[in-house]
Amino acid sequence: MRTYGGDLARIDRDGLTRKLHVRKPYVLEFSSNDYLGLADHPLLKEASIRAIEQYGSGVAASRLMSGNIRMHEELEKRLARLTGMKSALLFGCGYLANTGLLSSITSRDDLLFADRLNHASLVDGALLSRAGVFRYQHCDTDHLEYFLANRTCRGNRFIVTDSLFSMDGDIAPLRKLEELSARYDCNLIVDEAHAIGVFGNGGGVCREYGIKPHTVIGTLSKALGSYGGFAAGSAELIKYLINRARTFIYSTGLPPAAPAAALSALDIIESQPESGRKVLDMASDFRVMIESSGFSTAPSKSQIVPVQVGENRKAEAFSEYFERNGISAVAIRPPTVPAGTARIRFSVTLRHSLKDLNYAAQVLNSINRDMK
Ligand SMILES: Cc1ncc(COP(=O)(O)O)c(C=O)c1O
Repeated sequence: MRTYGGDLARIDRDGLTRKLHVRKPYVLEFSSNDYLGLADHPLLKEASIRAIEQYGSGVAASRLMSGNIRMHEELEKRLARLTGMKSALLFGCGYLANTGLLSSITSRDDLLFADRLNHASLVDGALLSRAGVFRYQHCDTDHLEYFLANRTCRGNRFIVTDSLFSMDGDIAPLRKLEELSARYDCNLIVDEAHAIGVFGNGGGVCREYGIKPHTVIGTLSKALGSYGGFAAGSAELIKYLINRARTFIYSTGLPPAAPAAALSALDIIESQPESGRKVLDMASDFRVMIESSGFSTAPSKSQIVPVQVGENRKAEAFSEYFERNGISAVAIRPPTVPAGTARIRFSVTLRHSLKDLNYAAQVLNSINRDMK
C-alpha cells in the first residue's frame, strides 16, 4: 500500500511544506495576480451575474458537444485582437492551454528549446509532447543559439518562453528570440500570462515590443480578473488545436460567468489603456523603497517584485513576520524556484496606494532589526 508519511517528513525537514491558508479580507494583499484590481469590479460582477441568468452556472459539455456559447466565440475574437493575432481559442485555464498546445503541435521528430525558468505548465507540456527538449540558461540567448546551431531534427523546432517570468518579474529578451527564431527557422511560442493587461496597452510584452510570435498563450485568471486560458495564433493553428488539443477536446467549456467577466475586463482595459503603465510605475517606486532598505529586487522589471531571502525557513519566517503585521506576502520556495533562492514575492496591483507600498517597505525594513 502506498504511504505518504516518509515523503511528507522529508518535505517538512527541507522546510518545503506547503499549506493552504484561507484568504483574510482584512490583510493587505501582496500575493494576488489581480494586477488591475478587476476581480471584484462591479462591471465584471454584473456581467457574470447576467451571464449566469442567461446561460446558467455551467455549460455542462465540451465545446465540441453542446458546451459552446456565443460568448466563448466573442471573447476569442477579442483576445485575438488584443494580442494582435488572427485567431484565439479558449481553454479551461492557462495550464491546460500550455499542456494542450505543446502536446498537440509537436511530435517525436521535433525539438523544443525552452528557457530554464519557464512556468511549470510549459515544462509539463514539453514532457507530454515527446519532442526532444533542450533547456537553455535563463534568458541566455548565446546558450540558446548554441543549441539552435548544433541540434537539428527531422521535424519542426520551437522556442518556448514566458514573456514576463512570474517568480523574478524579469522580461525575456524577446527581440533577440524573434531574430533567432527567424534565423534558425523556429516557431516562437510566448506565454504572456502575467503580461496580458499590464504591458503593451494590455496586449502583452510582444505587443509592447512590436513582436509577432508564432503563438501567444495567455490566461484570463490574472489581470483580466476572471478564470480560463487561451492560445492565439494563425487561423490554421486554431483550427488544428480544435481538432488535436486534448485538453480542449476532452474538457468542459468555460462556465458562462468566466467569459462574461473577461469580456467586461477587456472593455475596461480598452477604455483605460494606461492602467498597466500605472501599475508598472507604482512597482518601480516600490522597488526603490525596498532597495533603500538594503534588499535586492533584481532582476525585476515589472509589477512582480521578489525580495531574495535565500534559505527556505528564512523565507517562511519573513512571510510569517509580514502576516503578523497585516500583510500577505508569500514565501516562494523550491521547486517553484531554484534551491537556495527562496524569496518573498510581492505583486503590486492597482488596489495598492502609495501608503500601502510605503508600509510594506517599512515592515521589511524592521525585519532585520527584529529577527536578529
Ligand atoms: C507563466 C504562466 N503560464 C501559465 C500559468 C497558468 O495559468 P492558469 O492559472 O490560468 O492556469 C501561470 C500561472 O498560473 C503562469 O504564471
